[in-house]
Amino acid sequence: MNDQAYVRFHNIVKKFGTVVANDSIDLDVQRGEILAILGENGSGKSTLMNMLSGIYMPDSGSITIDGKPAVIRSPKDSIKLGIGMIHQHFKLIDRFTGYQNIMTGITSNTLGYKKSVKKITELMDKYELHIDLDKYVYDMSVGEKQTLEIIKVMFRGAEVLILDEPTAVLTPEEITKLFVILRNMRKAGHAIIIITHKLNEVMEISDRVTVLRKGKNVGTLNTNQTNILELTELMVGRPMEPIIRRVECEPGDVYLSVEDVTAYNHEGIKVLDNISFELSSHEIVGVAGVAGSGQRELCEVIAGLYPVKKGSVSCMNQEIVGKTPGEIIKMGVSMSFIPEDRLGMGLVSSMDITDNMLLKTYRDGKGLFINRNPAREMARNIVKKMDIVTPGISTPVSKLSGGNIQKVLLGREIESNPKVLVTAYAVRGLDIGASYTIYDMLNKQKEKGVAVLYIGEDLDTLIQLCDRIIVMFSGKIAGIVDARNATKEQLGLMMTGKVMMYV
Ligand SMILES: Nc1ncnc2c1ncn2[C@@H]1O[C@H](COP(=O)(O)OP(=O)(O)OP(=O)(O)O)[C@@H](O)[C@H]1O
Ligand SMILES: [Mg+2]
Repeated sequence: MNDQAYVRFHNIVKKFGTVVANDSIDLDVQRGEILAILGENGSGKSTLMNMLSGIYMPDSGSITIDGKPAVIRSPKDSIKLGIGMIHQHFKLIDRFTGYQNIMTGITSNTLGYKKSVKKITELMDKYELHIDLDKYVYDMSVGEKQTLEIIKVMFRGAEVLILDEPTAVLTPEEITKLFVILRNMRKAGHAIIIITHKLNEVMEISDRVTVLRKGKNVGTLNTNQTNILELTELMVGRPMEPIIRRVECEPGDVYLSVEDVTAYNHEGIKVLDNISFELSSHEIVGVAGVAGSGQRELCEVIAGLYPVKKGSVSCMNQEIVGKTPGEIIKMGVSMSFIPEDRLGMGLVSSMDITDNMLLKTYRDGKGLFINRNPAREMARNIVKKMDIVTPGISTPVSKLSGGNIQKVLLGREIESNPKVLVTAYAVRGLDIGASYTIYDMLNKQKEKGVAVLYIGEDLDTLIQLCDRIIVMFSGKIAGIVDARNATKEQLGLMMTGKVMMYV
């Protein structure tokens, strides 16, 4: 127990049906500290924080703020108590400007436009939060949207800031900026809680770390007195060596061939510039690059969702360019793209797991009057194989934890037995155990003869998992290297366009 606690959870229990999301949790955070919360997907991190932000109420237990009992029945109550939460999925209005988003929901603002802008600017200066207040949200990068969310809660007087996986979708530079902001806020005496799956971030930014496992608090440690191995063990409940296995296979026939592909976006800017590579059966080829180097467009070209100006893409010697997405799926190309907003693409969040399996069947063109049994079977299979924590296959996907949503998405693609499997950001937001499950699944696909294109962010993973790595820079291929001899430094130089290299 910590006597200086600003926020204290006491014996909190929260159940959803038979799932005990939070099981008698005690936890505290003080002013001027950054507390990290670590735990596998579905271990109850978001649920616990959502009780502070007024989205859920505990079944039992209590919360105190500054020593006083706090009853938080709604987000409004929470804001009044000085709590600000940045959610896993942003809650901004796209067709509003930054300023309009900050003011949304404030009914009692008597300051007027000029004074409000002045107050916001002061806030931005104090914490090094920088965005253009007149920019529309649809024009903002993910980093800008997040900064806007932070300004929004700070403007409402947040003393406690909760960030739910804020770095899952940020570039390394944006993460550095966010950490500067958080340190400034710590210095100013705010209490900060950050949820992240990235252990190196826990080590870098937090003062203390609380680990949840299956809804229970299994330990709170001082960050400078622990290490990544100890935290991993505490989190998964058994010792785990963080080494990714590369399966050695003889590459087979070329399954995907991309030749001289050039594409332009709707503003006429070249986004893919003469891209050529081949992907063979029994091979995992990685794609590295800083965000926005053309990875998304490349995926969309392969899926038939992006216009190609010049060049050709073929799967098993059949041309893809000009085909519809449905025809391309029939040719054996499967795509799982984990977008920045995981609910935004590929799954319908209000539908249950079975119906989301059926979506894929619809895409295969089998029509509306279909037998639900195979999809149910498939849903059951995926839940079992991927260890998805859910009360059942008829639970709406929106009720699953972030990481579990993702397992459904990739599981569905793999179950369709593709020849070419394109996965982008497959482990975004996944805990260590789940990430390793995904790597194993991809290795199994490789052993089976599937040609896998793995678009990733983490260079260590790319080097350990893949056979070859394509490095993209500004819509071009900066080089294709043998992963067995690649180093992070070399990849980093290529990603920033300083070195071009082919093997
Ligand atoms: N509204 C809900 N209805 C039913 N079950 C829910 C609901 N919200 C959460 N759950 C369940 O409670 C458990 C904890 O979920 P929670 O979202 O808190 O996990 P998490 O630790 O944040 O995971 P992740 O790292 O994947 O985001 C999960 O089993 C989840 O399926
Ligand atoms: Mg969560």
